[in-house]
Amino acid sequence: MHLSTVSIILAAAATAASQSVVGTAYGFAAGVTGGGDAAAQTPSSVEELAEWLSDDTPRTIVIDREYDFTGQTATDSGCDRNSCSAANGGQLYLGTLSCGSSDNVPVSSITYDVAGTEPLTVGSNKSILGAGGKAVLNGKGLSLSAGSSNVIVQGIEITNLNPGIVWGGDALDLKGGNDGVWIDHCKFSKIGRQFIVSHYDGSRYTISNNEFDGVTTTSATCNDNHYWTMMLIGEGDQATLDRNYFHNVSGRAPKLGEAGTFHATNNYFKNMNGHAFEAYEGTVALLEGNAFESVNTPFSGSAIATIFDTPDSAAAGACESVLGRSCAVNAVDADSGSLTPMSSSSALQPFSSLTDALVVPVAASEVASLVSSNAGPANLGSSAVTPDPAPEVEEPPVEDEPVAEEPVAEEPVAEEPVEEEPVEEEPVEEEPVEEEAEPEEPAAPAAPSAEEVSQWHQCGGNNWTGSTKCAAGLSCVAHNEWYSQCLSSAARLKARSILRI
Ligand SMILES: *[C@@H]1O[C@H](CO)[C@@H](O)[C@H](O)[C@H]1NC(C)=O
Ligand SMILES: *[C@@H]1O[C@H](CO)[C@@H](O)[C@H](O)[C@H]1NC(C)=O
Ligand SMILES: *[C@@H]1O[C@H](CO)[C@@H](O)[C@H](O)[C@H]1NC(C)=O
Repeated sequence: MHLSTVSIILAAAATAASQSVVGTAYGFAAGVTGGGDAAAQTPSSVEELAEWLSDDTPRTIVIDREYDFTGQTATDSGCDRNSCSAANGGQLYLGTLSCGSSDNVPVSSITYDVAGTEPLTVGSNKSILGAGGKAVLNGKGLSLSAGSSNVIVQGIEITNLNPGIVWGGDALDLKGGNDGVWIDHCKFSKIGRQFIVSHYDGSRYTISNNEFDGVTTTSATCNDNHYWTMMLIGEGDQATLDRNYFHNVSGRAPKLGEAGTFHATNNYFKNMNGHAFEAYEGTVALLEGNAFESVNTPFSGSAIATIFDTPDSAAAGACESVLGRSCAVNAVDADSGSLTPMSSSSALQPFSSLTDALVVPVAASEVASLVSSNAGPANLGSSAVTPDPAPEVEEPPVEDEPVAEEPVAEEPVAEEPVEEEPVEEEPVEEEPVEEEAEPEEPAAPAAPSAEEVSQWHQCGGNNWTGSTKCAAGLSCVAHNEWYSQCLSSAARLKARSILRI
């Protein structure tokens, strides 16, 4: 099949390599060892690469070249957008999933590279290491199987997965229940869908020192900025985002949700014609020491339940009692939109028992130079510094978290792209352009009408012919006229608590 079209000539035999993991997993990925002591090996063929990645044998796999998976194409029907057509720098939408709105124009034949839709499967206990800044997966992404654990992906570039086609592939996909993943010093560019997605069961991971390069001529919003940056919605995800460089992206950078707990520190956001952070109900996040330069919307969201005062040192000082230190103030330059102040420190409470996993950030004023010189595969090894661990702190009294109402109003953000017909586990976003929902997985099975629908799956909406009966303990919740989803009371009611300093 398409593996035979791989255009590179591979070395005749597997070669030993001296490569090892640079630095140590930290943040929520602390303790992750990947392949551990397994001797580094360079695969001798694409087939061997695929095999080594997918089994559960502890391995240190060295990627020392560009693997070009492109070349085998297929065609399928889909749609274009009136409001942002492919001819005007937009993306095409493969299949029927995103093609339900009046803005759509049917397209009978969309040609795409098959490799983008068929990622390499990754099992447990792997160190997947790029050598010398030359490791490129061209046209194909990585997908961590559900339940795969203890994986390090370091120094790899993933690029060119059907960039003009939504549903043409995700670069790095965490299929859920991935306990311990460290994604470090990688680069992502020219991807049809998400640079990184985490979904289904919660995972524990750190995303650090990566470059998210959204430069594209085919964007969902016709502004040369990639929209689908990161969707981190595993239910109960625990994630650290540290020292990443996001540029020329326009949305979901990142999107956080589904009862996840996130610590975002010292990330550098630059030249963004759209939004950086966005959050669903149920998200708990501490955003500190991040720097925003020429970012239209540092945070997009209207229904933030927990609001902290001002992005100043007084607000930062409120972290003292819970974290045992001041938080780092975020820096937003004059060419960026405002980071709307929040007014309650109760969002900090969930972090009181997680201080071991919290990175101690540097001042935001240091972020631009630190991240510019550190992020991405080419800079791997330039600084293997693992941030300081958090100081010990006494357990603070526990306060009840406030409960947020579901957002009702549409947000007047001009540059949101349009999609409809959501699928299973994806929570739904209120879009400003028109009523719609957010799809996630293109291959969602419709529930047979007689059966009970499980969590995250569709249970209603216009034109829904499947079952409307949720499994025990779940309720069918309408997100809009097109989509209702079975949710537990925990998923429905848990307050979204975001703290921005
Ligand atoms: C991963 O390695 C650990 C330590 O050797 C082992 O206990 C575990 O079973 C491995 N995981 C899998 C899925 O094989
Ligand atoms: C990234 O965005 C900035 C600001 O819009 C723009 O000047 C720059 O050319 C973009 N980068 C690339 C490589 O297109
Ligand atoms: C889908 O639902 C809309 C709104 O209820 C209705 O007008 C339309 O006829 C339906 N289409 C099909 C194919 O059932």
